[in-house]
Amino acid sequence: MRVLGIESSCDETAVAIYDENNGLLAHQLYSQVKQHQQYGGVVPELASRDHIRKITPLVRAAMQEAQSTPADIDAVAYTAGPGLIGALLVGACFARGLAWGWGVPSVAVNHIEAHVLAAFLEENKPQWPFLALLVSGGHTQFIQVDALGRYQCLGETLDDAAGEAFDKTAKLLGLPYPGGPELAKIAEQGDPQAFKFTRPMVNRAGLDFSFSGLKTQVATAWRQSDQSMQTRADIAASFQETIVNTFIIKCKRALLDTKVKGLVVAGGVGANVALRAALLKLGEQMDVAVHFPRISFCTDNAAMIAFAGFLRLQQKLSVADALAVKVYPRWPFHQS
Ligand code: KG4
Ligand code: ZN
Repeated sequence: MRVLGIESSCDETAVAIYDENNGLLAHQLYSQVKQHQQYGGVVPELASRDHIRKITPLVRAAMQEAQSTPADIDAVAYTAGPGLIGALLVGACFARGLAWGWGVPSVAVNHIEAHVLAAFLEENKPQWPFLALLVSGGHTQFIQVDALGRYQCLGETLDDAAGEAFDKTAKLLGLPYPGGPELAKIAEQGDPQAFKFTRPMVNRAGLDFSFSGLKTQVATAWRQSDQSMQTRADIAASFQETIVNTFIIKCKRALLDTKVKGLVVAGGVGANVALRAALLKLGEQMDVAVHFPRISFCTDNAAMIAFAGFLRLQQKLSVADALAVKVYPRWPFHQS
């Protein structure tokens, strides 16, 4: 089976082709970062319009890269949610139209599930069951993954997502969008012990998170500081250290509670080098296999969508949809 996948949930337009026997055959991505930079964040209407501009050339490029003709494609998978409704509709309508024109089924994929399944695109694949730590721009969740389609949410953020905390903190430090990677970059020059921020909710039982208070602590520290480049780097490093430590404490707790021997880290914040290093160390200490998708598959991409669509069709978990186009701006992962 060969599946073409389309991702358009936010500010990346991406198309990929996954083949059952030969793996990933094509991986095309266009990031809209430059269009949104001047506004300091994603402008939904601009995102939708740009997806429309880029989707056809990207599908053509992916077909060429995979040396495929329409007759080689067995299904079209698309991100149906969660995400920005206009952006989702562009990908969903295009995918449905393509599938109709090519006479193949289309399959609606949950973006969050796809982030988690991206770990299976790597050579060293996770073993079921495992714990997934999902850390993206819109979500922060612990999910117990027993098998494909068998998911249980163990904890989640009560306010900001981890990526959102990175982005908002970066913004208040005067860093450009996208804030997460920019903040991580300047944190390399800072002293992570320079500022002592309270780690949110670590003394409270359970596996929920809360990040909005941390942002306020950073805002106060920045306002009261000399606002030099070095202080900015120190605050960034201390903020990152606090987030990483919070995740380590909670991951340890979740691994002890669930007794699973695998941890999969998924979503954009999974690209954070400090978080990756700390979780790998925790894995060694606890004899737990820690899996990350490669950095380019942590952030939004279509390889994970094509692959998730393939798995769901192969295991008959998703019925190919009819001509209706479905999008779900909110779509809890454990209900997919
Ligand atoms: O998964 P993703 O690409 O999009 C969503 O589905 O939300 O995640 C994007 C988030 C953004 O908040 C971005 O700032 C954050 O991931 N991010 C990072 C890093 N790279 C991306 N946060 C911290 N450190 C990074 N290196
Ligand atoms: Zn994402």
